[in-house]
Amino acid sequence: MSSLDAICDRARGADGLIVALTGAGISAESGIPTFRGEEGYWTVGSEVYRPQQMATNAAYQRMPDDVWQWYLFRRAVCRNAAPNLAHAALARLDQALGERFRLITQNVDGLHLRAGNPLARTYQIHGNIDYQRCGAACCEAMWPLPDDLDVPAAPEQAKSYQLTDATAAVLRCPECGGRSRPHVLWFDECYDEPLFRFESSLKAAAEAALLIVVGTSASTTLPHHVVNLAAEAGAGIIDINIGDNAFGRVADQLANGIALRGPASEHVPAIADRLLA
Ligand code: OAD
Repeated sequence: MSSLDAICDRARGADGLIVALTGAGISAESGIPTFRGEEGYWTVGSEVYRPQQMATNAAYQRMPDDVWQWYLFRRAVCRNAAPNLAHAALARLDQALGERFRLITQNVDGLHLRAGNPLARTYQIHGNIDYQRCGAACCEAMWPLPDDLDVPAAPEQAKSYQLTDATAAVLRCPECGGRSRPHVLWFDECYDEPLFRFESSLKAAAEAALLIVVGTSASTTLPHHVVNLAAEAGAGIIDINIGDNAFGRVADQLANGIALRGPASEHVPAIADRLLA
């Protein structure tokens, strides 16, 4: 473990990239429930599903309307939310560092883009809930969901929400006319470069001088590769989380690492200030 000032000083003087890796915790203070919180559960008929069951291609094949309803409700929650101080700080780092900065996010909420991080340097490794693509993968195109869908964002309304014919009509692939699907990575699917920037994320990690990890429970595979590659490359690692997690333990064991415990909105702006001082 090292001091935060020492880690930031070292990164400022190095040639490598400054990389941020974010998870649901960075958007928690914007009012978006984290993935593994209680709020994620969803009822279809008399069955209660966990996100790990809903967020699958198997569920989409079996009950596409119900899976779409869940995603449209989650999207309405995201669209009602606004970027917070932690998102703004990462946008500030991008603006100041340009090509020296990369952002790898597991979040599908689009808040980093709305805060000002450019798509070219923002790797949305689990997709973006604002987009749809062909459900049968007839083409690689993706296109935005319309702004004016009539979907409730309040959980008590969501329970009785049913897909309307008008909404179902826009959930079609313009190429083949078949059903569209949300542009997200499901649990029974694999990362790739064209849709999810898999290789780009690994490359950024291997070229990192500093990796700032924010608000993730370390539950998915690509983030583990990113943290391991950055550590092997000798990068400094800062983990920010309100609780304990595997990446914090990695950071604490490194000579050039630190686990900071507390809210993202407090620690991320402070780190941006130090890096840009
Ligand atoms: P999780 O819900 O698993 O974890 C959220 C993390 O954020 C936890 O470690 C919390 O302690 C932390 N946290 C909560 N509030 C915070 C705050 N204000 N400041 C800092 N930390 C805070 O979310 P993820 O790790 O993002 O993937 O989940 C990773 C992936 O798991 C998701 O992208 C999703 C799911 O499988 C897919 O759908 C493919």
